[in-house]
Parts: sequence; structure tokens; C-alpha cells
Amino acid sequence: MDITTLRAQTEDLRRLIRRHEYLYYVLDRPEITDAEFDQLYQRLQTLETQYPELITPDSPTQRVGGQPVEGFASVQHKAAMLSLDNAYNADELREFEARIKRALPGERFTYVVEPKVDGLGVALLYERGRLVRGATRGDGRYGEDVTHNLMTVRGIPRRLHGPLAACAALEVRGEVFMWRQAFEKLNRGLEAEGDEPFANPRNAAAGSVRQKDSRVTAGRPLDIFIYGVSYAEPDPFTDHWQTMEQLLDSGFLLDPKDRKNTLERYRRRCADIGEAVVNCLEIEAARDEIGCGCDGVVVKVDAIEQQRRLGSTTHHPRWAIAYKFPARQATSVIRKIDVNVGRTGALTPTALLDPVEIAGATISRATLHNADEIERLDVREGDTVLIERAGDVIPHILRVIQGKRPSQSTPFRFPTRCPVCGAEAFRPEGEVVSRCTNSACLARLKESLLHFGSRRAMDIEHLGGAVVEQLVDRVLVREFADLYRLDVETLATLERLAQKSATNLYNAIQGSKGRGLSRLLFALGIRYVGEHVAAIVARHYGSMERAELASEEELAEIFGIGPRIAQSVALYFRQPENRRQIEQLREVGVSMKEAGVTAEPRPLAGKIFVLTGGLEGFTRDEAKGLIERQGGRVTSTVSKKTDYVVVGKDPGSKYDNAKRLGVPTLDESMFKKLLGR
Ligand code: IVH
Repeated sequence: MDITTLRAQTEDLRRLIRRHEYLYYVLDRPEITDAEFDQLYQRLQTLETQYPELITPDSPTQRVGGQPVEGFASVQHKAAMLSLDNAYNADELREFEARIKRALPGERFTYVVEPKVDGLGVALLYERGRLVRGATRGDGRYGEDVTHNLMTVRGIPRRLHGPLAACAALEVRGEVFMWRQAFEKLNRGLEAEGDEPFANPRNAAAGSVRQKDSRVTAGRPLDIFIYGVSYAEPDPFTDHWQTMEQLLDSGFLLDPKDRKNTLERYRRRCADIGEAVVNCLEIEAARDEIGCGCDGVVVKVDAIEQQRRLGSTTHHPRWAIAYKFPARQATSVIRKIDVNVGRTGALTPTALLDPVEIAGATISRATLHNADEIERLDVREGDTVLIERAGDVIPHILRVIQGKRPSQSTPFRFPTRCPVCGAEAFRPEGEVVSRCTNSACLARLKESLLHFGSRRAMDIEHLGGAVVEQLVDRVLVREFADLYRLDVETLATLERLAQKSATNLYNAIQGSKGRGLSRLLFALGIRYVGEHVAAIVARHYGSMERAELASEEELAEIFGIGPRIAQSVALYFRQPENRRQIEQLREVGVSMKEAGVTAEPRPLAGKIFVLTGGLEGFTRDEAKGLIERQGGRVTSTVSKKTDYVVVGKDPGSKYDNAKRLGVPTLDESMFKKLLGR
């Protein structure tokens, strides 16, 4: 095959892989199985190994799946990444104009206003239209090389199209951020899997961009808001407005409708400073509708030639200013630090505050996250603290006002016992969370039941906090299966639950029996098993009986299941108490099967394979995928438990071991027959 055809084929393959990555990572709606995806990926890798000249820096192989990088290399920005001067009211904006008029007497200025997005500033270097480098701001002169991670951000094109693709070098600046809804979804997912949630969208964006493993970044809902060009060779730009338009047309907007997104809608051209002021105030009033962290409006002189003549100080450009919104902060006094127990037993501290109003909402609680955070802030009961409320995010404490600390105050002692049941709390080394060690703790039971019935788990409508509280306190429910044993008469005795609501709740509980294995696995609250992992396990095994028997090694071999998850799932199923609870659920009639999966023929169910030597018709991964799809499993060492050793060309010592142990061997044609091919 000639190189041109090969190149075209590789490009087709890349396009296909990108599409499936997008469906999987961004839309969370994969159209092919993980094994099929692996096969595509493997094919590309094989082609690139055979013909290294086909490798391009934007190939998926150069990106996701790359080995975790050790630290980040330091890179020098094309031009320093400066800060912005601030204005806090209309007068200060007019003073800004007075200053630039003094610098360039007699000239007229027009402006562009645009949101000041609170995320992580990045510099993206394009050479002849290809993204070659992406860096964080760092100290302004040198940043961290996070190219691999930024390449996974959907809004960052890896290739520009249109006239800008011709620039020998083009450095684009922007802010990587998370939309608030996406951030909240991410945090819910992290919490469901037993991980620490992020304190705010900014931290989440920064933490995701600075990941060592770009696969983690790829799974995070990041977006970018571009706001400038710091270097262009040659430089085709005449004004800021036109620069932004050209960038958006070059690929920074995948979808033309995005030009109407809340951030782009608020980028506006203004004929004079009066118009700029009006727009600043208008955007401030719409602050909550923007849907992401936005802490002000940046006012920029539009004409680039004027920007050049105005120049910069060492700190900020003279041609731009940030109109900062009033902070959403206030001070209040901590009356008490309360420690709650979550369903995983995690002890979570909350500060109970004297009620205070911040931007229209009355705040009386703020999260303290964990013991480390309390220590870091050194917060104590009785302290006056500075609180921030950012959009819909739960208010958090920024710092203690030391001058107002009562003289007799003592450091807060984080409980070493569960505040509800009194059992010992345990904090494993290296973890930030301490947990109640009593699996029968009633606080944990209540939270577990709420999770069990939640919308994305068993979806039991009407099973809210007040109901669960009573069911547990009145000893009507002590485990999941007890829910299904409740009758309408008993439910009707609960406070504030009339006969009709009791019937509705009863029907909702009974109706949840058939939700299927995937939801059930998620509902059980196994550590690290979120919805996504539960779906993978359910699809793989099809029934609880088979999932329960899975060993840690077997689980870890499923695509998408890492060693930490595998260990947790196997550990869960090893506990007699957990198995008993599942048995009880089975007895009351809860479905333990995943619809659709069991129907598939699985002729190799339970069979263990070892592969050795090269096969002609398939790659290693293809063979593995085919075995797994029919229910078998592939391991790497031959033992007495091995059912078949598949022997290809130039087999290794595994072949000798098979003969020694008397394990049946299959050559490629027999193997194909076994697979029915
Ligand atoms: S212009 C040299 N425009 O805010 C021009 N910055 O506080 C300086 N930022 O480092 C940047 N939105 O990371 C500009 N629309 C916007 C912005 C923006 C967010 C960030 C940026 C900058 C920081 C300064």
C-alpha cells in the first residue's frame, strides 16, 4: 500500500477515534463497547509503530493513554502573562479613560467589554495552525507545560482552520474554566465514588488542568473562554473585536450557535466609555445567569495600534482594566462546629454561623470540608470568619479574622469517635477523611438509605430525609431489604404521611425492584463505584451472581476498572454481611440482572485463557476482546486453573508451561473455531 493511502487511512482512523472519545468522555453516550474502542486504538498504534512517519502530534495516541508525566516542564511564554488593574465603580472606569487620554492626547477610544472569567489562565501556541504547546500562567514569564492535558479540552482546537492557520506562530490566551452545572455534577460523581469534592469551580479547573494523567483531564468537563492574542507572526489583527471573531471562526467554537453562549453574548463593542460603563453594570446585574465563575468585566481599548502605544507596566497593560464585582463575602461568627456522618461513614465538619446576608441569600452554615481544612484555617468555635458565597456553590470559609478571636478560645479538636454512634473514627494514612468504623452506625444507615433510593440509584420517589429518619428511628428499617417488607398500613403510621402518600411510597418502593443490576450496584454504595463503574460491571457480568464471584484480578482486567476500584469491589463482595444483605434483597424480589446482557450467548463463560506468540488474524488486544465478549477471561500466567493456552508464532515459555502442566493448547485455527469465526 502506498504511503498516501496509508496516511489517509490513519487520518480516517483518528477521526473515528476522536468521535468515540467525544461520545464517551464528553457526552457520556458511547456507541461502541470499550473493547471495540480498544481495537480501533490498537490498530492506530500498530500503524504508527510500523510507519512512524505517520505520527502527528495531534494523534490520539500522543494524547490520551499517554504515560503519566512526571511533574511539568517549564516553558517560557512568548510574551509575559500580565495581571489586570482593577476598578470598583464607574468613577474609576472614567479615571481609566482620563489616564489613557493623557497618554495619547487628542485621540478617541472605542472599547470592548467582556466577562472576566474566574478560572485558570493559559497560553496556547499554534505553529502553522497546529497546537504545539499549552501552558499555565505560572509566574507570568514561565509557565508549566500542560499541552497533553489542554489537548483534551473540547473547546481548544488542536488545529486551526481558515486564514489564521497560515500564521507561523500564534499565541492565544484564554481562561480554562468549568460551567457551574458541570462542576456540581462532577463533584456529585466524585462524592459518589468516595473521592474528595473540589471546593469551587476554579479549583476544579486548575486541579484538572494540572493532572499528571491526561486521561483524568479528558474526563473532566473543562471549557475555555479566549480573551486575547499575545503574539502573532505575521500579525493580521487590527482590533480586539476582530481578533476574537477570527479566533472563534478558526475553531474555538465548534458550533456556530455557541456564539450566543452567555460568555460570548456578553462580549460587546462600545463606542465610548459611557457605553462601556452601562455594559459593565448590565453584566453585573446578570452575573448569576452567566453560569460560571465570573468576578468582573474587562474593559479593553479596541484598536491594537493604540494598545501598542499605551504599552504596559510590569504588572498590567495600560489599555485594559478589570471592573470588579462587589465580592460575595461577609463576616460572621461561628457558633458551633458540627460534625456530620455521611453514608461512607465520612465525618464532615460544618460551621454553624450567626445568619448573615450575602448577595440576597441568608447564610447560616458553611462547609469546612475535613480536619485538614480546619487545621489549615485554624478555625475555632467563637471565631469571626470571612465567608464567601460563589454562585450556587455552598458557602465556604476563606479565613479567620484573628483580631476578633475571643481571648479564651481553644483549637477545635476533631472527634476521634463517631459523633452519632460513638464508634472509633479511623483516618487511613495519606487520606484527608476520617470515617466511622461501625458499619451499623445509624447515621450511616440513614445516608445509605437515602442514597439507595436516590434518583440515579433505585429511584424511589417520596423516600426523603424525614421518612428515612422515622423509618430508622422507629426500628422499621435496619437494612435495604427491610424497605421492601414495609406495608401500606405501617407506612401510614409515619408522621406527616397520609394514607394516599403511604400508598404512593409503597408503590414507589415496590416499583423499584426491577431497576436492574447497574442501578442496584450503584445503590449499594460500594466505595469508588459510581454510576459509570456500576454500568461497566453490570454490562460485563450481567448478573449479581457472577459479579459476586469476581476476583480482584478479574475485575482489574475489565477495561475502565482500575486496581483501586477492583480492590474495593472484591472486598465488598467478600464481606459476609454484604452478601447477606444482597441475599435478602434477592429474597424480597429485587432484580439482580442487567437487561440485555444475559441474552447474549456467552459460550466461553468462566473459561481462562493465556495467549502466547503472535497471531496472524488478530492483535493481542483483539483476541482478548473477543474472548471477553464471549464471557472468557485472559490472564498472563499459565497455571492449573488455565483452561486453554492459545499458541501463535514463536511462542514463549508459556507454551512449555502449558505442556508441563497438561493444559490444552490451541493453535490459531482451533482458536478461531472456538470463537465461531
Ligand atoms: S486580559 C494582558 N481578559 O484575569 C491582558 N484576562 O486578573 C491581561 N482573565 O491573567 C488579561 N478573563 O487569566 C483578560 N476577559 C479577560 C479575562 C482575563 C479572565 C484572567 C486572566 C488574567 C487575570 C488577571
